[in-house]
Amino acid sequence: MATPRRVGILTAGGDSPGLNAAIRAFGKAAIGTYGMEVVGFRDGFRGLAENRKVRLEKKALSGILTVGGTILGTSRDKPHRMLVDGEIRDMTGAILEVCRKEHLEGLVCLGGGGTAKNALRLGRAGLNVLTLPKTIDNDVVGTDATFGFATALEIATDAIDRLHSTAHSHHRIIVAEIMGHRAGWLTLGAGLAGGADVILIPEIPYRVSSIAAAIKDRVRKGSNFSIVAVAEGARNVDDARALAAAEARASRARDLVAKETALAEILLLEVQHQGNTLRLASQLEQLTGLESRVSILGYIQRGGTPSPIDRLLATRLGTAAADLVAAGTYGVMVAARGDATEPVPLADVAGRRKPVPADHSWVASARNVGTCLGD
Ligand code: F6P
Repeated sequence: MATPRRVGILTAGGDSPGLNAAIRAFGKAAIGTYGMEVVGFRDGFRGLAENRKVRLEKKALSGILTVGGTILGTSRDKPHRMLVDGEIRDMTGAILEVCRKEHLEGLVCLGGGGTAKNALRLGRAGLNVLTLPKTIDNDVVGTDATFGFATALEIATDAIDRLHSTAHSHHRIIVAEIMGHRAGWLTLGAGLAGGADVILIPEIPYRVSSIAAAIKDRVRKGSNFSIVAVAEGARNVDDARALAAAEARASRARDLVAKETALAEILLLEVQHQGNTLRLASQLEQLTGLESRVSILGYIQRGGTPSPIDRLLATRLGTAAADLVAAGTYGVMVAARGDATEPVPLADVAGRRKPVPADHSWVASARNVGTCLGD
């Protein structure tokens, strides 16, 4: 009897609803349809480097479709820069050795843009890699959607719906901070669906004076409360300009010193950005005279049962990944394109982000229903 083909699978980056649905779909198709063996690795690339493996047989894949998080565990560790015994080490060689020892023909990595970048590095080092796009941020290029986004969108929208009760009963401004890293998809989507009065996203730098004017205008027209949906990455015009300049310096830098200096500036700006939502709420209170409160939705947005849309997407992408592995197609991310799935070269995905385009229909719709976007 021929030795079955063996494939590894791991989840990396932040947990996201739909990860287990994708593991299940890939595993069931790889084992059931193609007769392969599937080996899971715990805690992302760290577990792979340390060969913390778990054999994923059919039984392990049952009952996980609706479970939040990831049965494999995850981490943000990078193969080429991993903290080991108190020092940063390149674990690429150790990872290649584990894959060789485990007779893995390929590795499936479930993650966002950062994971695609790490997978591409491993691919260039000689590993057969394939990724699936997951993140609540929806900011992965080359795919219509990422799994996790639809569920987080529902959760954030529900939160905005509920925040309306206190906002209108107490005549307050409620500033709801929504995740999304450097992209505004989640905030714009939830803000639009939840009828937020102000939506602030990283792609559209804001002026506090414009927001205050919009809130005061609502009061004049009889609505003495407002919901402000603010993305964690949204910045006022000055802060956005400073960050863009530092990033431009970092990408233009010709030598190590210039690069390190620009990166340190970016880090400082990130640190200064912490607490921005609280500052914004207090500025709005001063400028409008309305009491302001803050709700930071945080990790609630990543938790719990995936929505049917995410389960479907994760299942489509997971089974498509098994088809690609069976065909020996590696070095790609499995993307959702309309009703179909498509392999997209990892080099076209890695290190790139998908921001909300200025002319996106959600932006136009928000403006057309009278939402203030802060500009
Ligand atoms: O990428 C998903 C995400 O939840 C982002 O929206 C957020 O900026 C980040 O992860 C938080 O990361 P961590 O889980 O490391 O705190």
